[in-house]
Amino acid sequence: MSKEKLIIFDTTLRDGEQSPGASMTAEEKLRIAKALEKMKVDIIEAGFPISSEGDFLGVQGIARAVKDSVVCGLARAGELDIKRAGEALKDANASRIHTFIATSPLHMREKLQMSPEQVLEQAIKAVKLARNFTDDVEFSPEDAGRSDLDFLCRVIEAAIKAGATTINIPDTVGYNLPQQYGETIRQLIERVPNSDKAIFSTHCHNDLGMAVANSLAGVMNGARQVECSINGLGERAGNAALEEIVMAVRTRQDMVPVNVDLDTTQIMTCSRLVAGITGFAVQPNKAIVGANAFAHESGIHQDGVLKSRETYEIMRAEDVGLSSNKIVLGKLSGRSAFKDRLETLNISIDSEEELNKAFRRFKDLADKKSKIFDEDIHALVSDFKMEESFAEAIKLISVKACSETGEIPQASITLLIDEEEQSASSDGGGLVDATFKAIEKIVSSDADLQLYAVSNVTKGTDSLGEVAVRLEKAGRIVNGQGSDTDIVLASAKAYINALNRLLNPGERIHPQTYSGI
Ligand code: KIV
Ligand code: ZN
Repeated sequence: MSKEKLIIFDTTLRDGEQSPGASMTAEEKLRIAKALEKMKVDIIEAGFPISSEGDFLGVQGIARAVKDSVVCGLARAGELDIKRAGEALKDANASRIHTFIATSPLHMREKLQMSPEQVLEQAIKAVKLARNFTDDVEFSPEDAGRSDLDFLCRVIEAAIKAGATTINIPDTVGYNLPQQYGETIRQLIERVPNSDKAIFSTHCHNDLGMAVANSLAGVMNGARQVECSINGLGERAGNAALEEIVMAVRTRQDMVPVNVDLDTTQIMTCSRLVAGITGFAVQPNKAIVGANAFAHESGIHQDGVLKSRETYEIMRAEDVGLSSNKIVLGKLSGRSAFKDRLETLNISIDSEEELNKAFRRFKDLADKKSKIFDEDIHALVSDFKMEESFAEAIKLISVKACSETGEIPQASITLLIDEEEQSASSDGGGLVDATFKAIEKIVSSDADLQLYAVSNVTKGTDSLGEVAVRLEKAGRIVNGQGSDTDIVLASAKAYINALNRLLNPGERIHPQTYSGI
């Protein structure tokens, strides 16, 4: 007998984007959405349309472009939010509105300042209104992990009666333990009289490192949808990692009562794409997608694996798309081969002029690096699109950096600011430090550098180096990225990219900050 399907609901573009500094442009979100669609994710939560004009357009663009996955928009349980989500999703092939309101005593009292009865009424109204836009409505009692079970049962019953087709149970602050979370799902399904009219879903945060374990405990107790994100990206410590859930379900079919329809060979591509776009590098020992996840260091392990792979491997690297990294292009590749590759990678180029610019970048890269991989093209396009996505107040003209044994490293930089070239030099602890100090001599941003990370996009010393920089100023956090085969240049690009983002306010509402709905 075939097993029931576990619905995979990806929230990289919504909860993932709530990670400080992880905000993405509409074009970047579209690229990730296309990669998720290719992986056959069932539902893509594309954003929170009321949060900003940019997010509205991002969700609308995804709703228009994605055909095979359901596209979902988040809305607080209020009229404006729901109407905005409905509007953003109206051209989708299949759409879902996900509406939520907090149900824990703490959130109702302190955040919402509403009585339980008022919350119940608001939930009913929200679900009913959402049903005017789509038949597919998801309701979440936020902070369900700390809510009273009797009250949860009442709210959920009422939400289903009002038309909710999916009931999502968020452990918003990652407080639950697996046994407890599984038990909550089991009890809710048992006690809510109309629970058979909806699909129950998990949404687990990773504050205690339990997100995946809790999600699976939910599945073992009747949940048939899991909300998760690529690389576990999400608010604070993140959300349940999609790749871990999916591979656990696939690998432990002997234990799990469900199966998934995903094309798991797309996992590595999605992981690298999300890491590259957000600048949130994947730790080497991260399950499934970390650089060491399939590497065997010790001689004993290597010997065992060579004799029989199952001795130390429970999954095949090919199944997550690890060995499919083929050389795609090189110095001799022409414009049409490049264009063809962009299409295969679902990268949309808006005009011939844009294609010409991107192709020139590709040729520059091919002069420095003989083998161009898919990851290089994604990094190149990310850099290029980012520069095009908003008017950059600061542009890099040139950087010169010198280091010599026994001498203090020196860097000189020339920037274009308001059509005027400005130059400065500085020394520093190293070339990158000197470069950043030289930039600051010109810009005086007063921002605090919270993170500087370099990773190589592919193997080899001629690889593109991808640099992530995180800056904080007055409580606002932005990430900048830059890539180049020269690390100092990549660092300068990343720093300037972050500065440009700081100067480009693009304020958004945070969904979980109540502001009167
Ligand atoms: O963690 C949470 O409670 C959420 C809700 C908006 C579903 O992300
Ligand atoms: Zn969440």
